[in-house]
Amino acid sequence: MSATILDGKAFAATVRAKVADHVARLKSEHGITPGLAVVLVGEDPASQVYVRSKGKQTKEAGMASFEHRLPADTSEEALLRMVDQLNKDPGVHGILVQLPLPKHLDSDLVINSIDPAKDVDGFHISNVGLLGTGQRSMVPCTPLGCLMLLRDHHGSLSGMEAVVIGRSNIVGKPMAQLLLNDSCTVTICHSRTKDLKETVRRGDIVVAAVGRPEMVPGDWIKPGATVIDVGINRIPDGDKTRLVGDCDFDSCAEVAGAITPVPGGVGPMTIACLLANTVTACCRANGLPEPEGLTA
Ligand code: GUN
Repeated sequence: MSATILDGKAFAATVRAKVADHVARLKSEHGITPGLAVVLVGEDPASQVYVRSKGKQTKEAGMASFEHRLPADTSEEALLRMVDQLNKDPGVHGILVQLPLPKHLDSDLVINSIDPAKDVDGFHISNVGLLGTGQRSMVPCTPLGCLMLLRDHHGSLSGMEAVVIGRSNIVGKPMAQLLLNDSCTVTICHSRTKDLKETVRRGDIVVAAVGRPEMVPGDWIKPGATVIDVGINRIPDGDKTRLVGDCDFDSCAEVAGAITPVPGGVGPMTIACLLANTVTACCRANGLPEPEGLTA
């Protein structure tokens, strides 16, 4: 193995420390405590784990955490009423509605009912449009975390060839926008892309976000490229399971210049960036300067 390991776990800890530092200053200098509200509808086990972890880390950073757990059969009207209450609550600076929602609920409608200034997920169409036009927005947490790792490793990304595998609204598309805003030449690949291997091999930066275990082998990677693996896939391993990314770590690490591991790469950055977005939203809401290095 020759690649540098990009330690997202350690980097996320530095982001959380910066957030906690800023929160302490907001409290002592302005008497403001940033607040994050998380809404969970239903009992999806993975979502329950995420929401618990979000609440814990929010409190550890010194922020107020509001958890709203609603039954799986909650009506759309009731959920929209809850979002409306949180929009109006001055103690809530960030709102996150955990996805996926139960099938009878219209996710787009619910997400677009969140006040864009409190949309710490960056999923509201206003924030998507602002990001797409290079304007100040709330930026989706996972791509923001990837961008922070890339900037930390490379400094400037200007002029680099970036290949994003996956076109989801949560990762692929906003990731491509962020890389474009940092002056990369960006290609987005997806399930219908022809010559996927040849296209991926052009990338000085490869971001894999497809949700298919170990789909990208090392011979797709340009020697020396930086590989950001967003995948978190649970696969059988004897009578247990283990987590793997979208990239075949061992063969990619032979060829890449730098690579994120799974677990311990991009994963921990997502919640760290959620906390960062909440502080950013709080500062904007109060007309205060934003923390440095925590936004795109
Ligand atoms: N479910 C999985 N990832 C996410 C995320 O980043 N935000 C929300 N709201 N739900 C998710």
